[in-house]
This record gives sequence, C-alpha cells and structure tokens, in this order.
Amino acid sequence: MKTKINDIQIAYGRQAGSGVPLVLLHGFGLNRSIWDDLSVNYLKGINLVVPDVRGHGETDANEGFYSMDLLAADLAGLLRYLDIEKAIVCGHSMGGYIALAFAERYPELLAGLGLITTNASSDDSQKRAGRYAQIEEIKIRGSAAVADSLAPRLSHNSVIVERAHRMISKTSPIGLMGALGGMAERPDRSTVLERITQPAIVVAGVLDQITDYETSKEMATALTNGTLFSLKNAGHMPMADAPAELAGALLALKTQCDEGKAHRESYQSNDQ
Ligand code: MLT
Repeated sequence: MKTKINDIQIAYGRQAGSGVPLVLLHGFGLNRSIWDDLSVNYLKGINLVVPDVRGHGETDANEGFYSMDLLAADLAGLLRYLDIEKAIVCGHSMGGYIALAFAERYPELLAGLGLITTNASSDDSQKRAGRYAQIEEIKIRGSAAVADSLAPRLSHNSVIVERAHRMISKTSPIGLMGALGGMAERPDRSTVLERITQPAIVVAGVLDQITDYETSKEMATALTNGTLFSLKNAGHMPMADAPAELAGALLALKTQCDEGKAHRESYQSNDQ
C-alpha cells in the first residue's frame, strides 16, 4: 500500500490485529521486507504497521538530507492517515534514531518504544566524516559502496549478509545519501531517554559488530520504564539472526502497552 505524506509516496505494510498497533522501522539501506519472517511466523495476528522509510524500498527518494525529525514526521503523518491515535514504535538501528526523534517530537502519539541494536548519541567527528566520505563514494560507485561496507558487518551468518547486500545494492543511491546526511547531522538524544515514561525495551545483540553492547545497557538504565533484552545469538540484525527471541521481546512490550491501555480505559469508565 502507498499514500502521499509530506510530499512523497510512502509505501507500507499493514497486518490486522488487536490492541495497540506496533510499528516496525527498518535500518539504513534496508527495507520493510526485513520484518517479513518475523511478522508472518512470529507476530501472526498482531496489529502491525511496517513502512519503508523515505528513500528506501518502495517509498520515494528525494534529493537532500533526511533529518531524523523529517523521517519521524513521515511516520506521524502515516499514523494520522491510518487513524491511529497511539502506536508502539520500534526501530532497528537507523530506525531507532527515527523512533527516538518520534518519541521526542510526538510523545502524545507514543504508547511504547522499542530500540533495537541502536543508540541515542550523535556521531563523533570521525563517524560523521566517514558518512560524508561515503556520500562521495556513492556518487562514483552507486549503492554498491554502501552494500560492500555495511552488509558484512550486519551478521555472522553469510546467508543473511548476502541477502542484506542484495537489498542494499537495490536501494536508491539518492535515498542512501539522504539518510547518510540525516544520520551525520542528528542530535544527541541521550537526554530524551529519561523523559520517556511509556513502556520501553532495548534489544541488544551480543554479537553486534556495529552497536556497542554497553551502550544498550546504558540506554535501558536511562529509560524510566525500560527493559533490556540481550540476545546472545544475534548480531546487528536480530530479526534475521534470532527472530523468535526478538518476537518475544516485542510481544512482552506489546502486552505491557495493551494492559496499560486496558487499565487506563477501565479507570476512565469507573470515573464517569
Ligand atoms: C543501520 O544499520 O541502520 C546503521 O548501521 C546505522 C548507522 O550507520 O548509524
């Protein structure tokens, strides 16, 4: 399905189910198909919204940098279009940066938060320079520049790496440059964590070669209502490395949010 939000066509998948909708945001260079196995085999009957982030998958790519705030505004527009009052927003890596921007800018739309192999800090100067260098490389070599450097670090499983490589190679170079610029310029959102009172989970892959495990522990501690799930068989892509374990973490969050909603509703009806 596709709809026009903030001047672009956003593609998204929708799965019907009960309770508070769960949004799954993919990471840099990938697209919503990374959640297919999880949604079909482990999240059957769960209310899901699964978008392709601007510049990725079947969503339009426009020139210019995509700030995390812009990507969060795309999600807010999509939720409004779908008549969703509140959602549990879960993001993988870059999707986590978007989820944090969303939590900061649209707390009224947030029922719960899932941060999957991601971090709340901004880039240091070396990382930022690396992103600008990669933009220049994309101008010469196209999307393969990102596929070659990112895919091998996503998993220890060669089948997952090959699949990710194919996916990133097909991602729009304009979209990749837009996201790289947006990530390079994103602000530090560490202090946002302590302001989030909604139920939250942090999912860490013990074998992750991109996100530091200690960072995930610190984020879970900083969250008011946060739980850390350490997946010992997962690297940067737990939805591929350890789907059953990731689904367990997401379902625990969903149950907490659904129970909170039911509790608030019964409290309100007793009050009337
Ligand atoms: C991702 O998987 O989304 C990226 O590794 C995030 C990043 O480059 O910071």
